[in-house]
Amino acid sequence: MKTLLKISIYGMLLCTLGCNKPQTLNTKESFDFGWKFIAEDVSGAEALNFNDASWTDVNVPHDWSIEGNFSKDNPSFSRGGWLQTGKVTYRKTFSVAKEDKDKRFVIYFDGAYRNSEVFINGHSLGKRPLGYIAFHYDMTNHIKFGGDNVLTVKLDNSSQPGSRWYTGTGIYRHVHLIKTNKVYVPIWGNYIVADNYTSEKAEIKITTQVRNDLGDGKTVTVRHTAKAPNGEDVGSSSEVLTVGASATSQSKVVLEISNPQIWSQELPNLYTIKTEILEGDVVVYSEENKTGIRTLEFDKNEGFKLNGKVTKLKGVCLHHAGGPLGAAIHRRTVERQLEKLREMGSNAVRTAHNPFSEEFLKVCDSMGFLVMNEAFDEWELIKEPMTTQNGKKIRIPVDFYANQFKEWADIDLEDMLLRDRNHPSVIMWSIGNEIDQMRDEEGIAIGKRLADIVHRLDYRPVTNGVHGYWDPKRPNQDAAATSDIYGFNYITEERYLTEMESLPNIRSVITEHQSAQSFYPRSTYLYDEAKKAWWDKLNYEHNDAYEWVESRDIRGEKGMEAWRMVKKYPNIMGMFIWTGWDYLGEVIPFGWPARSSCFAPIDLAGFKKDGFYFYQSQWDDKPMVHIYPHWNLKGMEGKKVTIYGFTNGDEVELFQDGKSLGRKTNDSNAVEYQSWDVVYQPGELKAVSYKNGNVIAEKVVKTAGAPAKIKVETRRTEMKANGQDVIYVECTILDKDGNEVPTANNTLKFDVKGPVTIAGVGNGDSMGLEPFKANKRSAFHGKCLAILQSTQEAGDITCTITSEGLETVIVALVSK
Ligand code: GAL
Repeated sequence: MKTLLKISIYGMLLCTLGCNKPQTLNTKESFDFGWKFIAEDVSGAEALNFNDASWTDVNVPHDWSIEGNFSKDNPSFSRGGWLQTGKVTYRKTFSVAKEDKDKRFVIYFDGAYRNSEVFINGHSLGKRPLGYIAFHYDMTNHIKFGGDNVLTVKLDNSSQPGSRWYTGTGIYRHVHLIKTNKVYVPIWGNYIVADNYTSEKAEIKITTQVRNDLGDGKTVTVRHTAKAPNGEDVGSSSEVLTVGASATSQSKVVLEISNPQIWSQELPNLYTIKTEILEGDVVVYSEENKTGIRTLEFDKNEGFKLNGKVTKLKGVCLHHAGGPLGAAIHRRTVERQLEKLREMGSNAVRTAHNPFSEEFLKVCDSMGFLVMNEAFDEWELIKEPMTTQNGKKIRIPVDFYANQFKEWADIDLEDMLLRDRNHPSVIMWSIGNEIDQMRDEEGIAIGKRLADIVHRLDYRPVTNGVHGYWDPKRPNQDAAATSDIYGFNYITEERYLTEMESLPNIRSVITEHQSAQSFYPRSTYLYDEAKKAWWDKLNYEHNDAYEWVESRDIRGEKGMEAWRMVKKYPNIMGMFIWTGWDYLGEVIPFGWPARSSCFAPIDLAGFKKDGFYFYQSQWDDKPMVHIYPHWNLKGMEGKKVTIYGFTNGDEVELFQDGKSLGRKTNDSNAVEYQSWDVVYQPGELKAVSYKNGNVIAEKVVKTAGAPAKIKVETRRTEMKANGQDVIYVECTILDKDGNEVPTANNTLKFDVKGPVTIAGVGNGDSMGLEPFKANKRSAFHGKCLAILQSTQEAGDITCTITSEGLETVIVALVSK
């Protein structure tokens, strides 16, 4: 009784104080569910009364390209992974209450691929060519209050090849409906900088735009409250602001926090800044942003420092997609990618070569990853459209972003900065990748213009992944002036030293370099006849591709060079390998039937390749040893095979069938691998790694027998019943004694029961042409994967995995 009374008195008080004032706060609602979809451009589909009953029901993130079959006839070509592309339309019907007639409605898309046009109730809100950029529209004037409304999104990804890699087609990122009062903070209107602290206190600078859409001016209070990582309020600051009618004003405050908890790679502490706008005592607007308190320094002598500590960037380039899920990825997909990269010892990502999702950056913030946030792969000139097909170099006409650059680049770059600049994980911005236009004055002018946009909006430095500043035709000093940090793609030591002579004060980073991983797909070790047969199957007409692949030998020696340089020269802040994970498209040097790249130490399904362990031996402290190839080399009996080993120990010993083949000294400062020549015979290899004479790690590789069972790893058994959580079911085929069978290609079938769907299957084979949307998958070199996605219903889940001749496995999971 007492409590009720209190509430009503409080309610009356509010009403008196806030007479004629809006009483409900702004909302941000997920608009991901309940869309209608058709893979066509349907004329008139934007009309409110259009009948879409026969269209498919979908939820977003949604990628239509990934749902199709691979076909040599698809115009996306090898660049797009031979998958379907085209024109598609989405519609979503929603109602707006009559009581909301004084509210403002905004629709927010975090990305839709590509050439979008969005309509509300038949009225076009605008077009956006770049499929990677977030955008939003105010649709208040076209909303029907007290009735149904329809949002229509038309996308056109039909002009192909449309990119140098797989893009996806669809509304492949989150959508939000935002409802506010007429006095509000516009989207991306809060800018939070938290890069000044001592152990006693931190200063957080907050700049806030306040917009008033009403006919009268307003005097408001902008109040910021900081919450510590444990949710406790730890500081606040406010400012009184006058905002004219239909005008925007800016508030600038410094919020102090005592004894700050710093954001670091090990402990990525995040503070929440709650921003409120008050008219009198009534809160009319509220939003929350995360920030991390940390300092970044880019020192020409010592390199990159995070919180004053020299930190080498052990980075990878990534594309935006998530393997078998295509571009429609979920938070868990990103977490898994970063977890595996962290296991490898990596601490940084370059968003190659375009803006990523907001969710990606949120995960980096919460996991302590560092991000080189990159905007463009091209400026005004389309990149050399060469590709290799059946071993022949051919040129194909393409339609890349360069065609829209003149009109849209400044807007896109500015929007990327505005959306992303609050993320503590972002440490630098990149305005390009291997831009040929940097060779002439026109390109230099563009570079300066883009760098100016970044400098106007943020304090972090600009880089540009340049392929050879050393080009004699390039105006070198001018090129350097377009970036704060010199970005080298594929630099050699000799060229680096030449650069340093002409530009000694420059700070640098290896924006891109080969990875220490062979170009062959995972666990592909080919000798003699087997090698010939593998290449014959691809029907190559000449040796170019063969030589290219062989040049990246199975030791990965070429890729090790970059890391040697990073270790040797303090003013190289770090490196980003091409790439961290394999990706769809850009299958060079292969042509059909290859449909994904093979550059990375982790394959498209997330299975580790040998190169993974090279980085682990160099980048991580956890004791480890890895040897390869596997030991099921039928046909090689009695022949010499070289065994390679990576370890972070100081000695390593190899045993064949229990007999020592000798200890080798391993100087990890020298960036080494070890090798032994062994005569192949079925049996056992064991590598033992030592540090200071003590065993620190062991690895056993045995010749496996026939496939008999399936080992299943899921990392988690519980998922969120939110329709967007995923569990990766990783399967490895074993023989009866539990040894991995690296040659197994059994087909596994996945039957699910309970509130769950199979979102995709995969196995990491870059030439596998089985579709990703299926309930079965053949293993590739002993491994395959199913990705299970929750629905919005909670309940128990089972996934039964069967395969002829193998023991059935039932995996029990739960969705809550
Ligand atoms: C680089 C380029 C990347 C990718 C890579 C493939 O030169 O910057 O985007 O195309 O080559 O090897």
